[in-house]
Amino acid sequence: MFFRQLFDKESSTYTYLIADRETQEAILVDPVLEQVERDLQLLAELGFSLRYCVETHIHADHITGTAKLRLRTGCLGIVPDKAQASCADRHIKDGEILQLASVTIKAIATPGHTDSHMAYLVNQERVLTGDALFIRGCGRTDFQSGDAGTLFDSVTQKLFTLPDETLVYPGHDYRGHTVSTIGEEKHWNPRFAGRNRQNFIEFMNSLDLPKPQKIMEAVPANEHCGNLVF
Ligand SMILES: [Fe+2]
Repeated sequence: MFFRQLFDKESSTYTYLIADRETQEAILVDPVLEQVERDLQLLAELGFSLRYCVETHIHADHITGTAKLRLRTGCLGIVPDKAQASCADRHIKDGEILQLASVTIKAIATPGHTDSHMAYLVNQERVLTGDALFIRGCGRTDFQSGDAGTLFDSVTQKLFTLPDETLVYPGHDYRGHTVSTIGEEKHWNPRFAGRNRQNFIEFMNSLDLPKPQKIMEAVPANEHCGNLVF
């Protein structure tokens, strides 16, 4: 399997390029509109053909590259079940598997940051956690139907029940981290370690964060797969 983490500096977003080395078929998870040319160049250089663009959720901080990538490559756009994105080619449900030759991607419903959110377990060994779980942090829960208690349950009952050695690849990082493990986050993530559900809810509700700069344009655009004109 080919696995590559890519970064967008402006929104601190990680995009993941995953491919089967034999068939050269590829998937992009959470592509960013401003990085579409970078991604297309990389795909061309590596000889990969893009089959799917997969979203962990409807983002509020950046516009997805899916619409543009779909136009340029003919790939299919996949969003989580119940996500408000009628433009998607396919919705993926909890437990559903996306198979691409030797690459097995299993969707794990992990709502709480948004009401429809999927983490993706790749070949049992790494989990793309989107904005449910960051390295030593987690996504906010104060907009887009977010709910702190739901996020606590998703992380503690779904993600933290994966084997400790599972590699954690988040949807964002703001402090220079790239990868962690489930065991490490269980032990060292200050949002979860030593907190119960009620304590977590109180903490999340006291954060008082500014709204993301792009929320007014990003959410409606992402509900149209990143099409800016709709
Ligand atoms: Fe998000």
